Amino acid sequence: MNRFTSTGIRSSNASLLIFPNPGQSAYLWSMNKNDHRPELFIAFEGIDGSGKSTQINLLSEHLSSLSHRVHQTCEPSPGPIGRMIRDIFTGKMEGDHHTIAGLFVADRLHHLLNKTDGILTKMSAGNHVLTDRYVFSSYAYQGAHVDLDWVIAANSESQRILQPDLHIFLDIPVDTALSRLVKRREQLEIFETRENLEKVKTMYDLVLDRFRTDQNILIVDGMQRQEDIAADIWSAVKSMLDLE
Ligand code: ADP
Ligand code: TYD
Repeated sequence: MNRFTSTGIRSSNASLLIFPNPGQSAYLWSMNKNDHRPELFIAFEGIDGSGKSTQINLLSEHLSSLSHRVHQTCEPSPGPIGRMIRDIFTGKMEGDHHTIAGLFVADRLHHLLNKTDGILTKMSAGNHVLTDRYVFSSYAYQGAHVDLDWVIAANSESQRILQPDLHIFLDIPVDTALSRLVKRREQLEIFETRENLEKVKTMYDLVLDRFRTDQNILIVDGMQRQEDIAADIWSAVKSMLDLE
């Protein structure tokens, strides 16, 4: 069933499902905000080319226009461990799937904890942090190749240190992802194949379903126009910030 054309409200014990617009182009599960701090930590998720960077830029501009401070970041991070991961993805270095999963665990902790531009430092300075990928990416991409429960356990310290106030999943078909990737790059990375993206998409669906009862997850139809996607995202973020 296409989740964007289904009718009715699916609810679960811990969460409230809200349709931000009447066209049902987005699903939002739960609205619990970590209320001991005003800054939001939002993780954008989706298969490669799903429009995450585009939407991060649009949300960042919107928040900045309202005088909110925003820090944009991504995983793999630009730091030393992130560079090692990119060397594996571009074929410069060899790496087994377990090794890659372990590198992402280390990269994520460095991304959170480094004092210079780590996520915690940026949030303490009053910034909302918008990250292009976080733990769900490891669950979906590494969980497609190694045991998912092991990947979840390996990432548990990052989740304990900082769980996103909201995960935003941009949903697009694999065909669209591949055609966008081909347009964008001359050379695809080693895991940017149809077979791998199909597996990753299946894992994302499983992971989103598994965590929807205890984490805030917004699923948006990524096939809409950029401005319509941005409007769905803004509806959710606005409610989390208690803005009119
Ligand atoms: P990601 O960061 O998830 O890899 P990008 O934001 O870089 O994705 O988008 C991938 C490509 O798709 C870019 O060329 C971008 O301009 C295009 N794109 C993004 N959003 C849309 C959309 N809603 N409709 C059509 N093309 C889009
Ligand atoms: P990048 O080119 O930055 O991706 P995007 O297409 O999202 O702009 O490369 C990030 C790649 O890293 C992407 O293919 C997903 C992968 N990845 C993992 O496999 N596990 C992870 O935990 C993360 C954060 C990313």
